[in-house]
Amino acid sequence: MRIESLRYTERFGSVRINDLQKVLELDSGRKSETPRKEEIAVHKIEDEVIKDIEGKMAIVIPIKDEKLKLFEGVISGIPHDCLIIVVSNSQRKRMDRFRMERDTLAQFCRFTQRQALIVHQKDPQLAQGLAQAGYADMLDKKGVVRNGKSEGMVLGILLAMLNKKEYVAFIDSDNYIPGAVWEYVKIYAAGFSLAQSPYAMVRVLWHYKPKISPEMYFRKWGRVSEITNRYINALLSDKTGFETEIIKTANAGEHAMTMKLAEILPYASGFAVEPQELISIFEGFGGILPTANQAAAKHGIEIFQIETRNPHLHEERGGMHLRRMILPVLSVIHYSALCNSEIKQQISEKLIEQRALQPEGEMPSPYLISPLKTVDIQGFTSFMKEHLPTYSVLEE
Ligand code: GDP
Ligand code: CO
Repeated sequence: MRIESLRYTERFGSVRINDLQKVLELDSGRKSETPRKEEIAVHKIEDEVIKDIEGKMAIVIPIKDEKLKLFEGVISGIPHDCLIIVVSNSQRKRMDRFRMERDTLAQFCRFTQRQALIVHQKDPQLAQGLAQAGYADMLDKKGVVRNGKSEGMVLGILLAMLNKKEYVAFIDSDNYIPGAVWEYVKIYAAGFSLAQSPYAMVRVLWHYKPKISPEMYFRKWGRVSEITNRYINALLSDKTGFETEIIKTANAGEHAMTMKLAEILPYASGFAVEPQELISIFEGFGGILPTANQAAAKHGIEIFQIETRNPHLHEERGGMHLRRMILPVLSVIHYSALCNSEIKQQISEKLIEQRALQPEGEMPSPYLISPLKTVDIQGFTSFMKEHLPTYSVLEE
């Protein structure tokens, strides 16, 4: 793969935020021995470098009642050497959709000679393991794991950790283009190959997100992303005194982290999970509030933002969904200790304008799941050891 070199990096305390890098060539050909002329402007990342990283990466796929055909397409796009971890919150009662997902995955793994894990979010063993580890944040009143994509993501990170993966990445299960899925993984690996710190994150920006109304239109920015990016940048600009537009991937559902970074971040419930990761990094390592983790601060946190070639086409859930999304997303910015009263005011006005908040309504405060580092991982690991094989789709 060839991607643009890093042209520009902004620093915020010990965080290095790299400006957008575009994919220039999906396949960069054979490894050549002679030095190339384009070296300065372009990174060529060799296939074997990408494959090495893929072998150390788990891909977490959260799924809730998606069409099976979509799911099948998504898994077909995940490079062979990655470990697939599916975390499902699909219904099991009227129709056992989880069972269907499991069967689909098992058949795929049999034919492709690979291993994968699948777990249901409401699995009682998992809940027991989490309770044992003192991870009450993840559990609801009934003692099972809470609903929500981010809860599913945290379960995925835990399973990746049990499988000793160095990198953990996320890909939604409602993606229509397997080739795009494939590209996301290549991008994650390319980003990590450029990272200098063991605490790194790669966030994907879609080249286009087409809308069909009535003809295909290749939209560049989604409405929610545009708004989220703007306020996160406002928050940074306010603290540094220099206006910036560096953040372009505030809502990137498609993103990946080194396990070292994934362990130390808190996660916001629901749709706010992706912007909250950035907010937590800025709060914990921006040098304004107390440092969240000394080792990480010493190495620095590195954020890559890489733009795909493939367009992003996923399930469209309509305007109501947008409105439901924007409230939790902006409320995590609003409640950040870095947010000043002027930005808070602007956020309230925006939400009222978008009819996501009543004029006198109260901003809901985000629900945060504490970092994995703070719970008894050892306890969880020893409890899960005997149950882990039951999540594999193929008998070992
Ligand atoms: P959007 O793409 O951000 O608009 O959000 P989606 O509604 O497409 O959700 C993103 C992904 O999370 C999809 O793959 C969903 O199937 C999945 N998902 C949604 N809710 C849950 C949940 O409660 N648990 C799990 N494990 N996955 C979920
Ligand atoms: Co989606």
